[in-house]
Amino acid sequence: MLTIQNLEQEERIAHDHYFEQLFDKEFFRLEEGNHTYLDFTGGGLFAHSQIKVHFDLLSQNTLGNPHSVNPTSHLSTVFASYARKTVIEFFNAHDYTCIFTANASHALKIVGESYPFGPDTSFALTADNHNSVNGLRIFAQNKRAIVSYIPLLEDLTVDDEVMAKTLHSPQPFSHKLLAYPAQSNASGIKHSLDWIKVAQNNGWDVLLDAAAFVPTSPLDLSVHQPDFVTLSFYKMFGYPTGIGCLLVKNSSFHKLKKSWFAGGTVKLVSVTSAHHFLQDDHEKFEDGTINYLALPAVKSGLDFLSSIGMNRISERVNALQNYAVQRLKSLKHTSGQKMVGIYGPPNRKNMGGTITMVIYDALGQKIPFEEIEQKASNANISLRAGCFCNPGVDEQMNAIDNIAIDDYFIKAREGNYKEMMEHTGIRRGAVRISVGIATRQKDIDTFIAFLDSYRNRIL
Ligand SMILES: Cc1ncc(COP(=O)(O)O)c(C=O)c1O
Repeated sequence: MLTIQNLEQEERIAHDHYFEQLFDKEFFRLEEGNHTYLDFTGGGLFAHSQIKVHFDLLSQNTLGNPHSVNPTSHLSTVFASYARKTVIEFFNAHDYTCIFTANASHALKIVGESYPFGPDTSFALTADNHNSVNGLRIFAQNKRAIVSYIPLLEDLTVDDEVMAKTLHSPQPFSHKLLAYPAQSNASGIKHSLDWIKVAQNNGWDVLLDAAAFVPTSPLDLSVHQPDFVTLSFYKMFGYPTGIGCLLVKNSSFHKLKKSWFAGGTVKLVSVTSAHHFLQDDHEKFEDGTINYLALPAVKSGLDFLSSIGMNRISERVNALQNYAVQRLKSLKHTSGQKMVGIYGPPNRKNMGGTITMVIYDALGQKIPFEEIEQKASNANISLRAGCFCNPGVDEQMNAIDNIAIDDYFIKAREGNYKEMMEHTGIRRGAVRISVGIATRQKDIDTFIAFLDSYRNRIL
């Protein structure tokens, strides 16, 4: 319940001195550009000092392609190994192998193409998943695996009963893979990490998509030990883009079958004879040349987050999220009609810094997300609108059943989101803001003032 004390407390936390000073020192470019950046789930922002550290490193060293023993090559290998070691330490992932990838999607793809899917295997995934996880079903289907979705409830949490039934199903599959996000990129819900152990105790391998979770929450892989973990570093600390990782639990490494070889992934290949020997460790899955110039910046990015502390970031984001929710809930048209509907569980326990909403006019009609997005952009506010590459949450949020969707897919040979809305006559999509390390109370207030300009508006 909203109380004055509650609001005062949130305001006090949102004025946290530490983060105000951090902003002035590291993120002042936002102020200079007059930006209201509320898209931290889309991409994190780098601190000024990260760039300085990286610039100095590149300026003071000569780095060469790492696949050699020459001095510049050797130095790249050394920096890459520092980055790998820092990743392992950051996530307390001493039982894991860190495979550098281009991004989270690429990490997911490695699992999809290497997991031993077959007719006697099962692939279960939550309806709340980013498309880069949904897309793995194609690998599974192509190998005739059984694919099933675990549905969401009205409040966008996962249906626990179906989850339990799926995990405890006695069907004798040779391999079973469960995939879910530690935090939803669409609703902000943090799903239970306890499912990992339950699933594994019942013979499942677990793929945890941590891309939306790790930027603002601590992940300790000595406590929760999914078989595969995927993430993108730019979401955590903004720079560099183009690097993610796949963390594979060492005891599950052998389960991933590499389907081809490339430069860097083999110990020996013959052309006169059709044989090759693959590398044994992370190198087996790092195709071609790793991003050796940018990899040192992964270390400086993680060092930056560690210097603040993930628990502190998590508390800050939670306070900002609470503050934003209270303010959004207080927005009303003069008639008393609420202006904002927030998706997700009303108690907002276990939520990250993502708030997904619909904006209503004075008669309770949904204002199209495209309009909000456009007007927000005009006001230099960066937010997201649409379905956020997460159709499962979008379909549940807007109560769209599979009959309407099937009908569209069957009739339309080609199509897109907009045409589907026109065909079904169902307005879907939502508006999403997400807060992070560089968010100030002022940014939320600016967004609230922007929404307030819709007061008494009739479509
Ligand atoms: C939960 C989640 N998983 C996966 C991805 C894919 O990340 P990337 O686009 O960096 O590959 C995203 C991106 O938004 C995400 O939010």
